[in-house]
Amino acid sequence: MDNDEFRVRGREMVEFICRYLECLPERRVVPSVEPGYLKHLIPKEAPEQGESWDDIMADVESKIMPGVTHWQHPRFHAYFPSGNSFPSILGDMLSDAIGCIGFSWAASPACTELETIVVDWLGKAIGLPVDFLAFAEGSKGGGVIQTSASECVLVCMLAARAQAIKRLKQQEPGAEEGLLLGRLMAYCSKESHSCVEKAAMISFVKLRILEPDHRCSLRGHTLRQAMEEDEAAGLVPFFVSTTLGTTSCCSFDNLMEIGPVCRRFPCVWLHVDGAYAGNSFICPELKPLMQGVQYADSFNTNPNKWLLTSFDCSCLWVRDRLRLTSALVVDPLYLQHGYSEATIDYRHWGVPLSRRFRALKLWFVMRTYGIEGLRQYIRHHIKLAKIFEAKVLKDPRFEVCNEVKLGLVCFRLRGSDQLNMKLLSSINASGRLHMVPATVLDKYIIRFCVTAQNATEEDVDHAWAVITEVAAGLLGELNGEAQEVMDDRKRRETLAYKRSFFVRMVSDPKIYNPKIAKAVPGQRRHVSSEADIEDIEEVDNDEPEIESTSNITIQKPIASWISWPLEFLFQGVFDEAHHAEVPVSLCGRFRHLDTMVRLKARRGSSSPSPENESGRDDGGSGGSNSGSVSPTMLHAPAPPSSSSATSSPRRSPAFPRKLHFGRSAAVGSGDPDKDKKKGKSDKGQSPMP
Ligand SMILES: Cc1ncc(COP(=O)(O)O)c(C=O)c1O
Repeated sequence: MDNDEFRVRGREMVEFICRYLECLPERRVVPSVEPGYLKHLIPKEAPEQGESWDDIMADVESKIMPGVTHWQHPRFHAYFPSGNSFPSILGDMLSDAIGCIGFSWAASPACTELETIVVDWLGKAIGLPVDFLAFAEGSKGGGVIQTSASECVLVCMLAARAQAIKRLKQQEPGAEEGLLLGRLMAYCSKESHSCVEKAAMISFVKLRILEPDHRCSLRGHTLRQAMEEDEAAGLVPFFVSTTLGTTSCCSFDNLMEIGPVCRRFPCVWLHVDGAYAGNSFICPELKPLMQGVQYADSFNTNPNKWLLTSFDCSCLWVRDRLRLTSALVVDPLYLQHGYSEATIDYRHWGVPLSRRFRALKLWFVMRTYGIEGLRQYIRHHIKLAKIFEAKVLKDPRFEVCNEVKLGLVCFRLRGSDQLNMKLLSSINASGRLHMVPATVLDKYIIRFCVTAQNATEEDVDHAWAVITEVAAGLLGELNGEAQEVMDDRKRRETLAYKRSFFVRMVSDPKIYNPKIAKAVPGQRRHVSSEADIEDIEEVDNDEPEIESTSNITIQKPIASWISWPLEFLFQGVFDEAHHAEVPVSLCGRFRHLDTMVRLKARRGSSSPSPENESGRDDGGSGGSNSGSVSPTMLHAPAPPSSSSATSSPRRSPAFPRKLHFGRSAAVGSGDPDKDKKKGKSDKGQSPMP
């Protein structure tokens, strides 16, 4: 394709894009294809000779589009928004045309300098502490555009890890780094995005996942208790990841409490993940939601979620850029340049060397809309979410399950989780609307997120009409002709549903697999004393409510469990070797499993495993009545002085044995009565399936 043809094809492509976006409402939101559908439509080998552009574009419509989930569709209410706008698309076009790889200032000075400037612009608009801004007087901080929030969390954890090891090494110069690494403990809430767990796995550190309070907010005292316990056991708290605007229900961790707790621990790096909500802080009235950010060492938000900027554009700010980059610097001769001392080289701020000119699209967006235009966009989404919330609140069949502060409404039919699962799967199967579920306060809820760039009140009306129509059908409230229409549609949709991969597909297992977070609260208790054990015996399924508002069921904040680095891999190796089944408990523990690994586990299986042998709970895998898979938890790692390997013949001798703090809590079969008795009889013993 030469310049002349590109001119023609470029115009055609712009026309194609405009038509695609204009005509989106005519398409199904989610496709109705099965896995592998494309394999049958596209040749196995790449063409030897070039093909005509017309043929290629014809295939886009006939082969690609049928398999596209339309994230920009006005009926798409899943996840969080996937930012988009014409200025952003144009920015990416230009970036692709320039095609520079801006890993250092010298590799493309404008690429680096524009990034520093626009990220500072956004940081100022959000109202981040001046320490985070590269151009603030005397600042040691600055911002960078990463590919994703996951990467932001990872690099911060890596930096915190390096800082902690360095500090420990100063205290114990003779200590081996690997042993020091084994003492590090990171913390997050159960409501944190699973990327924190992934970062901990990559960083090879332990992560203690803490129970938030009844508002799904991580509280200072919970964190403090866990950190103090760990420190007393010889571990070293080094990283706390908090969230402003959690994925499940857009809740906010309490930074005003968490910040001062972190300050008590000299090694601790406090990260704030505002992947979605962070963008909204450009609105003055929403800034109170980030109270306490002054305690943070780093903060990230994704303009590619909620600031009209297309993926990828995830901004990360750090208070001290040297602390970040010193963990990531490698400096071969071929990458050095004469201005290294005076400039920013963004290759030291992240994992990849190569980086796109992402600042262009953010610059285009910020200039085209202005901060005020972006505020209006955010406020409009919030207004629509409030309208939706009002509809739910007005209908006595439904309840709202989160505090609606931004563009996300969590709701459910008053009734069982199964009923709500059915409601959601019927809606998704219809192709008329797309939403995903989550677990909030141990209940299966449906997330309705305002996502479309040009979302309108009519879209909300439409969504509510679909939801109530399907709900009415499920509740058997329709009669006569309406019921017949419903039945007919249901018949057609059931088939589509059974075939549809997409009703099951989501990005975060915690969202789609309610069992991951679901367990009787008492089952997840971290036990450290006799008193705790007594408490657990008193907790049962019906009891934990301590307070109730019209929308929110409040439960006792309890429990934490530890994600042990790469344990699943060890488990996998053993399982392959022994052709054994993976205990169901691991589904609950390792949140990535359902998307990444095909488990062979069967409910009711009680195959011997290192988990079982070491007395670890299996979250009810042995109970046929177990409606939930509870996370494995409650196990503290061996203190650093312990070098003993497990006696289990199937556990690698190199794999550290886990010691319990106090005793393990009772971990249930899913039957609270049974568990209650079990808790009594198991006193002092490790729970077994
Ligand atoms: C709060 C939060 N953090 C992190 C992520 C992960 O984002 P990314 O896909 O940019 O890694 C998400 C995704 O929705 C999120 O909601």
